[in-house]
Amino acid sequence: MMLDRYLAMTIPTATLEELKRRAREVSMHAHAPYSGFRVGAAVLASNGEIHAGANVENASFGLTLCAERNAICEAVSRGARKIEALVVYTPTSAAAAPCGACRQVLHEFSADAVIVCCTDDATSERRYSLRELLPGAFGAEQLERGR
Ligand code: THU
Repeated sequence: MMLDRYLAMTIPTATLEELKRRAREVSMHAHAPYSGFRVGAAVLASNGEIHAGANVENASFGLTLCAERNAICEAVSRGARKIEALVVYTPTSAAAAPCGACRQVLHEFSADAVIVCCTDDATSERRYSLRELLPGAFGAEQLERGR
């Protein structure tokens, strides 16, 4: 598969394994008393740093924050502005891809990030490019600022 070759070329296996480990680890800190669905995410910033986040639910359900967005905001708050990869871990049998809102937020910091969705079962792993998960994305260029 073409994306696997791209990923293999750009992200060292050890880094990918560390991203998966961090995503799984942070899922243990999810605050998910309403859904019971614990998600963990880890992002690789262009300077090589890894930042992680878990989902944080709220009694006012609509205020729930996804793991992916929390990981992205953690990275940005620490100075990152370019994200190379996002790994999301779910405790499910099939891998789950990020929701639409998280795809859009990720796009702000990379139009071509690699997204790896993993579970405890290595055979269920799925890899995507952000371009394939969010075609025709709205970005800064659509604002046509200054025109
Ligand atoms: N959730 C995430 O953290 N990431 C996703 O991409 C989808 C859903 C969380 C939100 C909520 O706490 C729980 O999973 C069930 O939707």
